Order: sequence, then C-alpha cells, then structure tokens
Amino acid sequence: MCGIVGYIGKKQAAPILIEALKRLEYRGYDSSGVAVIDRLNYELAVRKTSGKIKDLEELLESSPLPLSSVGISHTRWATHGAPNKINSHPHVDCSGKIVLVHNGIIENYEELRDILWKKGHKFVSETDTEIIVHLIEEYYKRDIFVAVQKAVKQLRGSFALGVLCLDEPDILIAARIGSPLIIGLGKNENFIASDVPAILEHTKKVIYLKEGELAKIQEDKIQLFDFDGRAVSCHIDKVTLKVDTVKKQGFPHFMLKEIHEQPSVLTQMFQHRIKNNKISFDDGGLSEKCFKGINHIFIVACGTAYHAGLVGKYLIEQLASIPVSIDVSSEFRYRTPVINKKTLVVAISQSGETADTLAAVKEAKLKGAKIISICNVVGSSLARVSDRVLYTHAGPEIGVASTKAYTAQLGILYLFAIKLGNARQTLSSIQAKMFIKDLKQIPSAYIKILKDKNAIAKIAENNAHYGCFLFLGRNINFPSALEGALKLKEISYIPAEGYAAGEMKHGPIALIDEYRAVICLAPESNIYEKMISNIQEIRSRRGKVIAIATEGDEVINKHADNVIFIPKINQLLTPFLIALPLQMIAYYIAVKRGCDVDQPRNLAKSVTVE
Ligand code: M6R
Repeated sequence: MCGIVGYIGKKQAAPILIEALKRLEYRGYDSSGVAVIDRLNYELAVRKTSGKIKDLEELLESSPLPLSSVGISHTRWATHGAPNKINSHPHVDCSGKIVLVHNGIIENYEELRDILWKKGHKFVSETDTEIIVHLIEEYYKRDIFVAVQKAVKQLRGSFALGVLCLDEPDILIAARIGSPLIIGLGKNENFIASDVPAILEHTKKVIYLKEGELAKIQEDKIQLFDFDGRAVSCHIDKVTLKVDTVKKQGFPHFMLKEIHEQPSVLTQMFQHRIKNNKISFDDGGLSEKCFKGINHIFIVACGTAYHAGLVGKYLIEQLASIPVSIDVSSEFRYRTPVINKKTLVVAISQSGETADTLAAVKEAKLKGAKIISICNVVGSSLARVSDRVLYTHAGPEIGVASTKAYTAQLGILYLFAIKLGNARQTLSSIQAKMFIKDLKQIPSAYIKILKDKNAIAKIAENNAHYGCFLFLGRNINFPSALEGALKLKEISYIPAEGYAAGEMKHGPIALIDEYRAVICLAPESNIYEKMISNIQEIRSRRGKVIAIATEGDEVINKHADNVIFIPKINQLLTPFLIALPLQMIAYYIAVKRGCDVDQPRNLAKSVTVE
C-alpha cells in the first residue's frame, strides 16, 4: 500500500526521499511523487508520475528539483482514481503553499469535498486524499500545526499523513489513525516513514506514532500531541534490524533470498523458544495462566497468514482438544461470531498492519475476547492492540509473496499448540517432547530440499506453460494446497485453485483435461492411499500430475508425471516441508514467465485499507 517518507535536516532532501521510497517499493504501488521546499527562494516544487520509481528518477533528471533540505515523498497504491500523474501524491492546496502525502482511505471524503467545493476550493484529482489538503488550507491561519490538528478531527477512515507548508518551512507535520507511521531521529535531522526499512540507513532510533497522535517535527526537535492539541509523551525505540537484511545479498529476488532464509529462521526460533524441552513464550508474556477458562479459540488472518491459521486449527484441535473456528478477517468482522470472555482470539499477520485483521481484533476486544497475536513486525499496530504477542522474528520480508513469514507462523503455531496441549493435559510431556524433537529436524530437512533446487526449478519450468493449475491436499495439507495456489497465482498470474482432494469429485474434476496441471500433495500419512486414488482419477482424465511425496515412496512414480520428494517426517509436520517446494514451484514458474516476482501487479505487501 502507499508509502510515505519525510525529511527535515541539513542534507539534500531529494536523494534521501527517493532512496527511502525504494525501500518502500515492496509495499506495492503504481505511481510516485516528491515535493521539496526551497527555503532560500521561497519555492514549493512537486514532481510526480505514474509507474515505477525509476520513472520518477527519469523525470527528476529532465526536470530537476531545487536544492532543499526539507521534503516529503510518496508511493501510491491506487484506491480512489486511476494510477495516473494527477492522482499521485503529493497533493497541493489552492494556494500552492500546503503540500501533503497520505496513506489510508478517507471515508467521508465526498461529504467534505462538497462542503469545501461550496467554499470555493478547486479539486484537480479524483482522490480522497486531495480533500485533506484543502481542509488544512481552510483552517490555515499562519499556524500549520493548528490547521492540521483541526483538519484531522474532521476525517473519518484511516490515515497516515506528512504535511509541509511553504510559509513554515522548518516544520514537518505527521499524524496517524489506522495507517502506520514512524518518526526516525537523527542528529540535526529527522524523518518520517511508513516503516523502518525506509530510514534504516540513516537512523535506528524511532518513535512509533500511536493512534490519534500528531507530531510537530523540526530538524532538532520532535513534539507529540493528541488530536485535541494536548502534549503527549513519546517513547524512543532502538531498532535492531541490520541494513543488510533489507538487501538482496546476491540473490536475484528477495523472494528467493527469503525462501533460503527459512532454515535459519526456524533454527533461531527453536533455539530461542525451546529450552530443556520446554516451550517458552515468556517474552510475549504468555504463560499457562493465560489459557485458564478459555473454551473456544478463534483464529483471524488474511491471505497466507490465514492458511497458516488453518494449519493451526488442525493442530490445536488435535493436540489441545479445544474447538477452533477460523475466519478470514474481513468476514469475521461483518458476521456475528459468538464471542465472550472465554474466547481467545489468535490474530496472525506478518506486517501487523493489515487493516482487516486489525478491525477484526478491535471488534473481538470490544466483546471481551483476549487477543494473542502472531506477528513478524515488532511494534506494529496489531502487536500494540493485542494482550499478548508471539513474535515470529523472521526478519523483514520484502517479497510480496509471503514465504519465510508463513513457515515462521507455522513454527509459532506448532509451539503454541504443544504448549496449550500440555496446559490442558491433552498432550503428555513425553508426547510433547517427541513433537519438539521432530520439530527440530525441520531446518535440516529444509537444507536437504534446497539442495534439490535445480531439479525443482526444472520441473517448474517444464510446466510453466500450463494455463491453469489445481492444487490438491488432504487433512493438514489442505491448507498447504490453498497456500500453493495462492503463491502461484499472485506471482505468475496463472489461475490456480487449491482444493481439499476429497472435494475434487464435487466439482473441480470437471476442469481436468490434458491442459490442466494438478499439484498433488501426497506425503506419507494415514490418508496417503486416498490421495493416490485422487491422482488416478486425474490421470485417467489426462490431467498432468506433479506430486510432492515422501522420500522412499516407490509407488508414487507410477502415478505421477513428476515427483518432488521431501524428507520423511511426522505427518503432522508435513505442511512445513511441503511449503518449500510449493514456494519454489511458484517462484521458478513466475521467473520463467518473466513476471515481476517481488512486486507483482496490483498487490501490496501490507494491506492497510479494508
Ligand atoms: O501482513 P499480513 O500477514 O497480515 O498479510 C496478509 C496477506 O495480505 C498476505 O499474506 C498476502 O496474502 C501475501 N501476499 C501472500 O503471499
């Protein structure tokens, strides 16, 4: 979704603003822009364009910005109005003196636009954003801070804002509700950004702006206020991210790098969370006491995180024998789930900024549920609204397609299910120990699968011409089938559907012919034979079968056109190992088809609008 950057200091603002935008590219966008104030010559200069940041850079070469040490920049993911130059940010008021960038959606923009239009404001774009800058102009009486403060009180919806005013060029204003925004603290310079990677090269000291906070930022001073103008205290965090972690480190794409990081992410997770065969979530404040009185668990999440949650449902019900309901966050919110003080809501989100998941959690909280979140981004909005947070600590995930965050979410869910099973005495200590032992084998199994990457790449490339894919799995690998299909469609744009294999005869079998490729998840398990029957049904209709099976399976070769083998493991843990070849199939098919793997069209990394 949209990315915001702001700079105020002594250095040249434009290169900082553009470089920082590049670090936000992964969020997804379709146009970009930059505005700077030339304090010496009293000039506000704006440049914007549709397309990628390289298009903005080309524009800046042909139409350079004046020298300046204060500015704002933006990547726009279109919501209201086409992704063209006029609709891209920054937006300027009628006087040409106030300029603004925005991430979020203003829900009452039509109502406000009518009022402002009647007062004589002229609108040039189709965006909801433009009304904000005119509203600020309406309130502007030589104090930009007061004008922004009055304006934000009129807005409904979600917003993170960066605002500058030509008449007060030493002040950068930031405000937020719903959408994320951080302030980076430097020496005689300060920054704002949608997230930490944007400014990591300049500072590791950040303030996470809270809901309903406004910041008045100068090069040597930061003041925070609530929307009523009352000063509030601020907490400075020191981020531990390394600059290198947000670079490709020799891989052609972030996605491939992140696929390769999975063994080390899980090794670290297990080292950190398993001590003497005991699972510890102490850092998230989660002890066995937190499970007392709970009689129902709801899992809410979106996309890949939802698929991890679905694996979690199978696991928790099996190991801890407690009913688990799961919803995609956007559905949870608008139906009437039965929630009370005995309900535990587990919210899963890599970014912790997904608007639908945040809204679902807020709804559940109002009804008295306890919230545990499984989150990757430290300090994110979801982490802050939850009662307990179990961080995945997978490091920044830049590729839009979620890979290491997914398997890290699985890691936490397995540990959580074991701990819960232990607490509820549905899992004995010996059984728990055995699971923990099996879990610890996963990183080395990953390394083994990664060694076969050329063979997997070849299978993927040889099948990249198929126009439609079906993914079939059963039981705990039904979610794996959904995830495999999502991964493929989002980065290669090939229509792909994930199904519970048993459902095939209830509809999807009509799709099968020689033009269809079917990825069949057939690891060793108690339902292996049922999977083989499904594979035979596909083959007899001339469908192409690519199977993922367990090493040592001598039967599968007879039935499948291609087979990818995974190491032998406890069947409950197979979703971990199956995820890896599925990610690689999607990756190599997308590369073969020339797709933009890390930034697929229309997608955003963190979906901060509902
Ligand atoms: O940040 P979140 O985990 O809340 O994001 C949820 C989905 O938007 C995300 O998983 C999306 O489906 C990915 N692009 C999948 O690869």
